[in-house]
Amino acid sequence: MKTLTQTLLLTIALLLAMLITSDANGRLLVDKETVVVKNDISGENITIHCYSSEDDLGVHTLPYAANFTWYFHVNIGGTTKFYCDLTTGHGSGNYGVFDLRLEDQCDDYCLWLIQANGPCLVQKVFHGQLYCQSWKKPPHNIKGFAF
Ligand SMILES: *[C@@H]1O[C@H](CO)[C@@H](O)[C@H](O)[C@H]1NC(C)=O
Ligand SMILES: *[C@@H]1O[C@H](CO)[C@@H](O)[C@H](O)[C@H]1NC(C)=O
Repeated sequence: MKTLTQTLLLTIALLLAMLITSDANGRLLVDKETVVVKNDISGENITIHCYSSEDDLGVHTLPYAANFTWYFHVNIGGTTKFYCDLTTGHGSGNYGVFDLRLEDQCDDYCLWLIQANGPCLVQKVFHGQLYCQSWKKPPHNIKGFAF
């Protein structure tokens, strides 16, 4: 039979374990995160290069409707952030595609649709409402723009 002290110590140990493995919102940091970046520009191949401070996922070409998907664990500090360089015939730019603030809008995985006007996060917790950003740079093949 367990003594009261043993039970108390076990409870404290469990609470400590929960504290170090979860962030401020009680989300378990050991959970696997998923990000999906999908080409939603019909008739076009786009180029994506995604990375964090720890991982470089390489340069990939995505035909229309194809996606690039990766899985990872958020670091203990909860500071993991992924960025993607996106290049399309409509524009390009570098965008933050994952951090814990964005993850709050994602539900089971973070889905980015790369559209003609820019990248859009499907905010599944807001009934799929899109959070869109515009291109930071115009397409390379348009003359008259100096960058
Ligand atoms: C996209 O890439 C594929 C494979 O490299 C190529 O066959 C196709 O012509 C490209 N499509 C466009 C619209 O550039
Ligand atoms: C991403 O592509 C894979 C392989 O083609 C497919 O099974 C999966 O359903 C796609 N995911 C999304 C969100 O489109």
